[in-house]
Amino acid sequence: MAMKLSVNPPISLWAPVRCFKKCRTRFLNTSYGQSNRPRSFCCQSQMHPVVLNDSLSQQNFFPPWFSVAPMMDWTDNYYRTLARLLSKHAWLYTEMVVSETIVHQKENLDRFLEFPPEQHPIVLQIGGSNISNLAKATELANAYCYDEINLNCGCPSGKVAGHGCFGVRLMLNPMFVAEAMTAIAANSNVPVSVKCRIGVDDQDSYDELCTFIDTVASHSPTKHFIIHARKALLSGLSPAENRKVPPLKYEFYFGLLRDFPELQFTLNGGITSIDEVNAARKQGAHGVMVGRAAYNSPWSLLGEVDSKVFGVAGNGLSRRQILEQFQVYADSLIGKYGPGKPSLRQVVKPLLNFFHSEPGNGLWKRRADFALRHCKTVKSFLEETLEAIPDAVLDSSMSVRDPGSVETFSNLDDLMPPYYSREEELVYS
Ligand SMILES: Cc1cc2nc3c(=O)[nH]c(=O)nc-3n(C[C@H](O)[C@H](O)[C@H](O)COP(=O)(O)O)c2cc1C
Repeated sequence: MAMKLSVNPPISLWAPVRCFKKCRTRFLNTSYGQSNRPRSFCCQSQMHPVVLNDSLSQQNFFPPWFSVAPMMDWTDNYYRTLARLLSKHAWLYTEMVVSETIVHQKENLDRFLEFPPEQHPIVLQIGGSNISNLAKATELANAYCYDEINLNCGCPSGKVAGHGCFGVRLMLNPMFVAEAMTAIAANSNVPVSVKCRIGVDDQDSYDELCTFIDTVASHSPTKHFIIHARKALLSGLSPAENRKVPPLKYEFYFGLLRDFPELQFTLNGGITSIDEVNAARKQGAHGVMVGRAAYNSPWSLLGEVDSKVFGVAGNGLSRRQILEQFQVYADSLIGKYGPGKPSLRQVVKPLLNFFHSEPGNGLWKRRADFALRHCKTVKSFLEETLEAIPDAVLDSSMSVRDPGSVETFSNLDDLMPPYYSREEELVYS
């Protein structure tokens, strides 16, 4: 069977490295909203030679104009590598890493925290409800030079918000979140942020959301909030239903923009196209985070981020070239942490949506399923399956995409919540 990848050498060899050079002080006394604030320059050291060396990357895009949401089991190193090949500027969030995992796996940290330098800008999301462990985990993560540390206050799963008493359950105790964020910030070299819902159970009014934001922002150094614009229900809904059933209330997000002009807010939830991202930004959103759509249609969504959101040239790689680079990286990782860790199946998982809605996709997926049973490397996996995809798809540049519903953010005036009264601050100060 003919090999579908070209015989050109890979464009770059990616070796995951850890930044051992301490970057402390770079971000101290900085806040979001300053347009020329430096980023983690430590990562432009010799150890990290390829990271975001154009001035645009260092000067703009704060808070992240576009980011890919943290998603457990989805936004792993392999997916993020693919995402970075598609967009140089999108901010990438890790899956949530529980603080206890970091603290108890001190000898094994690379497995949970290491990433290739190309993945900057990258945010580590941590989860937990033990302040001392959150602080220790943050301190241990410093060596890896993430660009921001984010606390998960939005996960409703039973394990996390039920048994674990963290995730979205933390929204019920804003003062605790403020203390946790203070501890995280004190142990971090970089800015900190919170990702939350707009409410939990019947604590779901706009005023209660404002109280949460107000308390956390005024009692901790947190200046950036990512708002998943639907509430979570702690019982009765699965995590997947909790991302679908409670209605989206974008007006709460835009209310926060109006009522907390000193803070930075990223909008998340239900956004499925670049046109919607741009419509939200046109409406004033500081940044937009996309989750499922970026995973399910990586090519059509992420491939347009650099040119259409950041207004800079994309990398212009074809799918074939992206696969070549991905293959070199992924094959270098298979078995790195022991037999089958990671496995071929794990590293190629993000590729399974790469040809979403393209000719040949169905056949390719069937071949992929078969090839995964016996192939040992990504190279052989691709050689065996790519015959199913027409050359025109492999070599094409971006085509015109479904614009999505750009009206989503244009009729919010009638829905906006009443102004939040700042007098209530006194209760918490
Ligand atoms: C498979 C999956 C795993 C997720 N894991 C996390 C997580 O670890 N941390 C988190 O804050 N949110 C998590 N989320 C929620 C997403 O970050 C995002 O808030 C949600 O999917 C809504 O955005 P979307 O409509 O663009 O997908 C997860 C979502 C999915 C689909």
